[in-house]
Amino acid sequence: MGLDFAPMEGVTSRDFREIHAACFPGVDRYWIPFLSPTASHQLTARQLRELEPGPLGFDRLVPQILTKDAADFRWAAEAIGALGYREVNLNLGCPSGTVVSKGKGAGLLRDPAALDRFLEAIFTNAPLPISVKTRIGVNDPAEWEALLPILARYPISELTVHPRTRREFYKGGIHADAFRRAAALLPCPLRFNGNLFTGADVQRTQAEYPGLAGLMLGRGLLADPALITRCKGGTRRREALIAFHEELAARYLCYMHPDGAVLPKFKELWLYLSLLLPDERAWKRLRKCTRWADFHPLALGLLQNEALLEEAAFSRLD
Ligand SMILES: Cc1cc2nc3c(=O)[nH]c(=O)nc-3n(C[C@H](O)[C@H](O)[C@H](O)COP(=O)(O)O)c2cc1C
Repeated sequence: MGLDFAPMEGVTSRDFREIHAACFPGVDRYWIPFLSPTASHQLTARQLRELEPGPLGFDRLVPQILTKDAADFRWAAEAIGALGYREVNLNLGCPSGTVVSKGKGAGLLRDPAALDRFLEAIFTNAPLPISVKTRIGVNDPAEWEALLPILARYPISELTVHPRTRREFYKGGIHADAFRRAAALLPCPLRFNGNLFTGADVQRTQAEYPGLAGLMLGRGLLADPALITRCKGGTRRREALIAFHEELAARYLCYMHPDGAVLPKFKELWLYLSLLLPDERAWKRLRKCTRWADFHPLALGLLQNEALLEEAAFSRLD
């Protein structure tokens, strides 16, 4: 069963993915955070850089499109196919207020009839196989029942389900019953995503749904970048964690402002990475830093000297 690294906009950049793959073997595929098609139907220099396959190659990358416009989706899918990709993913899950208010991401789940028309348009003569990543509704898990028969109608190459509503963002428990309904009713290959934070979570989910195409892990891998390596029989090596941290910092510092851009990016990463440390005050100290020159030695020192927990303490985020 494949174990993929979730797309995380603003975090799992191309630099991040390539350095992670070099330091932590075992991730089957890395999903590229969503690309929003531009009105001019031109890939920007930044989008092209993110889509460059690099050492991972087309087979280990999944590009994703965020739009509610079928013509824009088709254009982006064609452009992505022309680069050499063999699959494109549709985002039906992004919960961000600015995205949902425009009817994109999880906003597309609000009107099942409109979603049906959108899917009909993009699946008709699609230029390449389309996979979908979705939530189970906007406000209420009961909405899933109306969405399932619509999803069942289209030749989705693989469906990733994050069993939460848009309203739930990433908080609280997941709706396992909604995922079971999908497994029972949908003909397409399925992937589970949500709250897989430990090796035991991964094992339990693999045992519970043996027929799945795979699992997708997001925050669990930010907290313990070796989580998939460990699930596949490897170990978490402190030197690998340090190398990952230092190489990512060095790469970002080549083209980003230390305090204005690298610091906020590393704070977002450390929100999760600090869950590996027994002392939760470490994160409070890191969070207070206003300069990269203060943050970096503190963060590196923690990685070099502190004990690391066996499993990340996700309960601290509740
Ligand atoms: C900061 C952040 C950025 C994200 N960006 C994307 C994205 O670009 N596309 C997407 O489909 N999901 C995105 N997600 C959702 C994750 O891919 C994943 O579904 C979510 O984190 C739940 O999985 P987890 O419990 O393993 O973290 C993002 C989540 C976070 C926290």
